[in-house]
Amino acid sequence: MSLKEKVDKEKLPKHVAVIMDGNGRWAKQQGKIRIFGHEHGVLSVREITEGCAELGIQYLTLYAFSTENWNRPRIEVNALMGLLVKTIRKETETLMKNNIRLATIGDRNQLPKNCIKELDEAIEATKDNHRMTLVLALSYSSKWDIVNAVRTIAAKVREKELLVEEIDEELISKTLTTGNFPHPELVIRTSGERRISNFLLWEIAYSEFYFTDVLWPDFRKKHLYEALLDYQGRERRFGKTGEQLLAKNDA
Ligand code: FPP
Repeated sequence: MSLKEKVDKEKLPKHVAVIMDGNGRWAKQQGKIRIFGHEHGVLSVREITEGCAELGIQYLTLYAFSTENWNRPRIEVNALMGLLVKTIRKETETLMKNNIRLATIGDRNQLPKNCIKELDEAIEATKDNHRMTLVLALSYSSKWDIVNAVRTIAAKVREKELLVEEIDEELISKTLTTGNFPHPELVIRTSGERRISNFLLWEIAYSEFYFTDVLWPDFRKKHLYEALLDYQGRERRFGKTGEQLLAKNDA
C-alpha cells in the first residue's frame, strides 16, 4: 500500500496551512545564492498544490511573504516579487486546468503594482473554480491582520453601524483577511524551525502542528502524505476529554 493510499480520505483536514521555510539554507548547501532556493521552492509549491488537490483538500494556504520579509536585502525582495509575478503568469493556466481558485491574504497594497495586477488577473480568471482554493499569504502577518480588523470594527462602532455588544468571535473571524476561509486543522512548517512566526495566530487556536526537518525545496508529495498520516493519528479534543469523544462516537 502506498503512502498516498494510506491517507484516509474520510478524515482529511479541510484546510492545510504551510510555513514554507528553508529555501536560503537549501541554496547555501548547494553553494548557490538564496534566490536559487526560492526558485526551487516554486517546484515544491506546484507539487504540494497538486498533492492537496488530488486528495480532495479544499483549502491550502501558503506563507509566501511575511510583513517582516520586507526587511530582507532589497535584491532578495525584488527577486521574490519577480518570481511571484513570473510564477502566477506561468501557472494560471495550470490552476484553470485543475479547477483551482487563487486567493490572497495580507496587506496587498504594499505589493508592487505589477504584482497586484498579475494577482488580480489570476484571481478573476480562477474565481469560479471550486475543486480547491489556493491562498497565498503575501505581505501577511497575523498581528497586522488583527490590528486591521480591530480598526475596521472600531470604525463601524464609531459610525454607529455596530454595537459594542455585537462584537464576538464570529465577527472578528469574518473581519480578518482570512474571513472567507475555514480555520486550518493542520499547520506544517518545514526546515526544523518550531515557530509560528506571526502566521494565522487567531485561526490556529485548535490547529494541529506538524514540524519537519525537510527544507522546503525538498518537500515532495510523500512528505505531505507523512504529515497527513501523522495528523490522522491524533485525537482532536477541542477542550473535551478523550472519554467524552469516545462516548460521542459510540452514540
Ligand atoms: C522561506 O525560506 C521562504 C520564503 C520567505 C519565501 C517562499 C517563497 C517561495 C517558495 C517562492 C514563491 C512562492 C510562490 C507562491 C510563487 P527562507 O528564505 O527563510 O530560508 P532560510 O530560513 O533557510 O533562510
